[in-house]
Amino acid sequence: MINRRQLFAGAGALGAAGVLGIGARAWQQGLLGGDNPALAAWGDWTSQRQVGALRLIGAGVLAASPHNTQPWAFAVGRLGVDLFEVPGRSLGTMDPFGRERLAGLGGAIHNMALGSTALGRAARVRLLPDPQNPLHVARVLLGPDNSGPAPHRLVPIIGRRHTHRGAWRGGALPTAKVEALMDFPAFPDVRVLLFEAASPRGERFAKLTSDATAAIAGDTAMMADSHRWFRHERSDAVTRMDGLTLATSGISPWLATGAALLPAQSAQSEGRFWLAATRDTHLPTASIFGMILTPNPHDRRAALLVGSAWQRLHLNAVAAGLVAQPLNQLPEMIDRQTQLRQPPAFARAVDALLDDPAWRPSFAFRIGVADEPAAPALRRPVSDVLGPPARLAWEIDQWRNAGGAF
Ligand SMILES: Cc1cc2nc3c(=O)[nH]c(=O)nc-3n(C[C@H](O)[C@H](O)[C@H](O)COP(=O)(O)O)c2cc1C
Repeated sequence: MINRRQLFAGAGALGAAGVLGIGARAWQQGLLGGDNPALAAWGDWTSQRQVGALRLIGAGVLAASPHNTQPWAFAVGRLGVDLFEVPGRSLGTMDPFGRERLAGLGGAIHNMALGSTALGRAARVRLLPDPQNPLHVARVLLGPDNSGPAPHRLVPIIGRRHTHRGAWRGGALPTAKVEALMDFPAFPDVRVLLFEAASPRGERFAKLTSDATAAIAGDTAMMADSHRWFRHERSDAVTRMDGLTLATSGISPWLATGAALLPAQSAQSEGRFWLAATRDTHLPTASIFGMILTPNPHDRRAALLVGSAWQRLHLNAVAAGLVAQPLNQLPEMIDRQTQLRQPPAFARAVDALLDDPAWRPSFAFRIGVADEPAAPALRRPVSDVLGPPARLAWEIDQWRNAGGAF
């Protein structure tokens, strides 16, 4: 028979083992402090650690990308930077035509163009410069030192832009803030549509986005493809430096810490969480919704420009003290129904949101005001995304063609 003293001793030992176990798990998950090397890319940019053309890449890698897939590789030369699509960094059935992947690349291009002004060198961007190689999505040519404009006002914002998935304040935004959002030159074949969340169009958008989220959460293939980019274990996060994490999921830091101690969620429970967050948090606490439209979302150039426009809108939002989150469930379901050759129910339903149905939605989002900033997402640093140097022949050709001048 066990006496009381033995019982207390046993309970104490169990408790100590439990605390030790939790401590070990907290250590394993990086919850006991220390730097996260998978976040160093943000500091590399803000502390201006890169020099020359590498600086452009430092800005490019901080762009938004679908599920943080970072579908890019760069080649750097004396006269500029080449950017390549990496199709293997794919969302599968969540992005069956690679449209979102190109949007992520477009965001990187926009950051590089802005970043060039920090170098003081003039820049020219050519999209899809090589008809023989469609994966070569952009070339940024750099002029000599002191040939460029003054640093762009958004240069310091590049390192402060983070997708915010938390609860916001809601309510209408002052007109000046909405105008600040739209302060950028027109992109060919791209239109931005903004509407108040509380407007009839906003309510319709919320209903359709909620329906599209439910459709995705119920689609086993889409959820499995989404789940592949979720990094629950810190060991995964620090080696891969991409994908989504609890810290950026919009839950409070305390809850994220608690959840990090537990085993990873299944794809199915991730879908349930996402649907609940969309319905209870993302949609009801937004100030405005919006869509980026283009006549042919699957045109590669258009997809790049849509991504550039989103990057610019998000940077403008941060500069204006606002927060932003893409909500792309509708365009994703439009593509998924096309892929499955199903009746285009979401494509038809979205017509009710558009002034001109010839302009199709390629990106959807919410913008608003939050009390807390969003956490930074994982990033591969410049050293991890650099391929072989840009072809020497190209540099020499450029140099000759330009007569030795830019
Ligand atoms: C084309 C594209 C689609 C995206 N779709 C969504 C989305 O539907 N929901 C969401 O919360 N974030 C979405 N994002 C945001 C990315 O998940 C985010 O950019 C990425 O995780 C990196 O985080 P960061 O933007 O904070 O740097 C999208 C981004 C891009 C470029």
